[in-house]
Amino acid sequence: MTARFIPLMARMEGPIMNCFRSGGGLPYDDYPCFHEVMAEDSFQTVVCALFDTIIPMVPGLEARLEQGIRVLDAGCGRGLALVEMARRFPNSEFIGYDLCPDAFEPTLRRSREEGLDNVHFEARDLRDFDEPERFDFIASFDAVHDQADPQALLDGIARALRPGGVYLMQDIAGSSHLENNLDHPLGPLLYAISCMHCTPVSLGQGGPGLGTMWGEELARSMLGAAGFTSIRTHKLEHDPFNVYFIATHDRDGGQ
Ligand SMILES: C[S@@+](CC[C@H](N)C(=O)[O-])C[C@H]1O[C@@H](n2cnc3c(N)ncnc32)[C@H](O)[C@@H]1O
Repeated sequence: MTARFIPLMARMEGPIMNCFRSGGGLPYDDYPCFHEVMAEDSFQTVVCALFDTIIPMVPGLEARLEQGIRVLDAGCGRGLALVEMARRFPNSEFIGYDLCPDAFEPTLRRSREEGLDNVHFEARDLRDFDEPERFDFIASFDAVHDQADPQALLDGIARALRPGGVYLMQDIAGSSHLENNLDHPLGPLLYAISCMHCTPVSLGQGGPGLGTMWGEELARSMLGAAGFTSIRTHKLEHDPFNVYFIATHDRDGGQ
């Protein structure tokens, strides 16, 4: 987690105190430079480990990307991982959806200047995501717990996978139960970030405010409710903040 998160959150103290009083949330726009700081964070956890560690976790994915598949990053933010993949796998098509167009606009501009024509971004509120059997691989990086309707998004992702498709969800490593996190070395930091950002931005959209520490137990049960029948988790050495879920429908031959 980049050190720049701390001053960013400190600047939000006043508005957050008001949220505690009113019970409401905040829009993304109220957080100065959030997408820039977030992109620095996910550059460290996702982009740097993409080809050596993350893609190889999904059996057969690299070969399918080389052959040519359609990929979605749901809640892509800056979308740096998509662009890295688009460069490496020219036969595949990469799509990023995010609520906030200012998150991905700089990346979109640079990718057009570079002449990359296999990566696309679109401003979308994913609370009503419904594109049945359109994608072969869907990823979300630290994006589900912030959503307006996380369960609706997971339901939509399950429907959006083609037969044999795979969903990779990176989200915060922790338990859904406070008492299990007492010895979590990053627990205080993660709960603080949850209060200062993740919970208010979901509440601000009328969402449930699951927060950063929604936890692996709840994540598993929501993935199951969405229809995923095989859910495996990985912890990666370079990224103590997150757990990586690999979810498929067994019924259609997913891995
Ligand atoms: C914590 S950031 C992660 C961004 C990016 N995946 C990364 O790792 O850098 C969560 C992202 O979810 C997006 N988001 C939140 N609510 C959303 C919604 N209702 N529909 C679509 N995207 C949403 C935010 O705009 C934000 O970019």
